Amino acid sequence: MNAVQRASAAAATDEPRTVLVARSIVKSFPGVLALDNVDFDVRAGEVTALLGENGAGKSTLIKMMAGFYAPDRGEITVDGQTLHADPAEAHRVGVATIHQDAHLVPAMTVAENIMLGRWPTRYGMVSVERQRQRALEALARVAPHLNPNTLAGRLSPADQQLVEIARAISEDSKVLVMDEPTTSLSPPEIDRLFSVVDELRAKDLGIVFVSHWLEEVFTIADRVTVLRDGKLIGTRPISELDHDEVIRMMVGREVRETVVETRPIGDVVLSVKNLNRENMLSDISFEVAAGEIVGMSGLVGAGRSELAAAIFGIDDYDSGSVEVAGVRVRSNDPAAAIEAGIGLVPEDRRQQALISLLSVRMNITLSFLDHVKRWGLLSPALEEEIADREIRALAVKTPSSKTRVSSLSGGNQQKVVLARWLTRNPKVLILDEPTKGIDVGAKSEISELILRLARSGMGILLISSELPEILSLSDRVLVMRSGRITASMPREQATGETIMSAATMG
Ligand SMILES: Nc1ncnc2c1ncn2[C@@H]1O[C@H](COP(=O)(O)OP(=O)(O)OP(=O)(O)O)[C@@H](O)[C@H]1O
Ligand SMILES: [Mg+2]
Repeated sequence: MNAVQRASAAAATDEPRTVLVARSIVKSFPGVLALDNVDFDVRAGEVTALLGENGAGKSTLIKMMAGFYAPDRGEITVDGQTLHADPAEAHRVGVATIHQDAHLVPAMTVAENIMLGRWPTRYGMVSVERQRQRALEALARVAPHLNPNTLAGRLSPADQQLVEIARAISEDSKVLVMDEPTTSLSPPEIDRLFSVVDELRAKDLGIVFVSHWLEEVFTIADRVTVLRDGKLIGTRPISELDHDEVIRMMVGREVRETVVETRPIGDVVLSVKNLNRENMLSDISFEVAAGEIVGMSGLVGAGRSELAAAIFGIDDYDSGSVEVAGVRVRSNDPAAAIEAGIGLVPEDRRQQALISLLSVRMNITLSFLDHVKRWGLLSPALEEEIADREIRALAVKTPSSKTRVSSLSGGNQQKVVLARWLTRNPKVLILDEPTKGIDVGAKSEISELILRLARSGMGILLISSELPEILSLSDRVLVMRSGRITASMPREQATGETIMSAATMG
């Protein structure tokens, strides 16, 4: 059927065509029933948002549509063809997927990454140039600012994400599946992605979209499918739903709003003075006091993660100083930073912070340094006790503390990294996008946790691109743009408008 026939068929029935059908899907992993008799379908020319809390089964369903796993029971068909555990086949029948934890090959160029895995099997050598052309077209559509010859490893996470999207749409696909595609994108980049999605929807692609941001879901989705604990809760047109109803479907309970609170603020614990790093950080000075939450706002690429890396000693700086409780911290030395009482939960948790082959327990109780210096000092019993306590405190969804951390869902991996720092009790904790990829229920739990840490006297530097998070938690708000601090304001003056204007101008 060509596009015209499809359009007239759709007009005749007034029902969009269903391209992908998943029926009665069951999938279990050791100790977990990840999907329990789930029905799901994707319609041409529609965006279906797949929603649910961390560990609900979204990525598992997506991996089956991409041919990574076969269901234990049930069947997935695309235009009548049954999928098996064969990614090449899934791709061939027209399913393009952007996975939650996908990575580009850092040592290959942007263009090579887009073409990766395509041309040798589907096209003869003669078509390499044609493939390259298509790669460039896809890139121009999604990320016109990128040079196709840049090595992927040099790109920011946001740009890498855009390249993955270009890769997914560089071939004619029937279904485009995106597992949390917006988590490392800035608002303008999300707008660009959404206009690409609109274009693809108009061309009759069936689109599946996972996001923990309901604003995005209400902007882009036509229908919503909700999973909870591996079960299908329902599929509804977005026009029938409001935020509260979606949250009720996802969570099955009320989610508490964070109340703005005032805490006693103590002595300065972190003092950053005139920090400079060529082309990255420009004369950065600020302080964080005990019990204080300092929000750090700004767009992706403003230099906030670079600042965190400099304070924590992962990167060096050219001039300036970092002090903890009045004592200067040696630069470019994470061991010295940790020793001085600085903790960091980095943005790119899976790459930087987790040792994926180790268990949840080991990841909680070992920091990289303990790993080297004090290996063996924790008794297994104590280790287990600490890990179990934190797993309960953060409601980490894992079959046991011995489970490999790499088998947890994305959001639950992030909770494990947070848990590690809670066991160490630093004087100042830097949180870089702590609720990125975390579901609505867990978000409010993490907000509570941040407040609890501040109440206990920890100083918190909260880097976040989420205005509601910054506004509801911060005692003071700093805004960064192009490597400098462009605003510092008390909570009372901080609004969406004042923050955005400092983030984009000035
Ligand atoms: N390879 C695996 N081995 C063992 N357990 C797994 C594996 N993959 C997923 N699971 C488990 O299956 C359940 C569903 O995980 P899934 O990744 O589908 O969740 P999700 O809805 O994508 O969550 P998130 O929003 O946190 O990404 C979780 O309990 C997870 O720990
Ligand atoms: Mg997931």
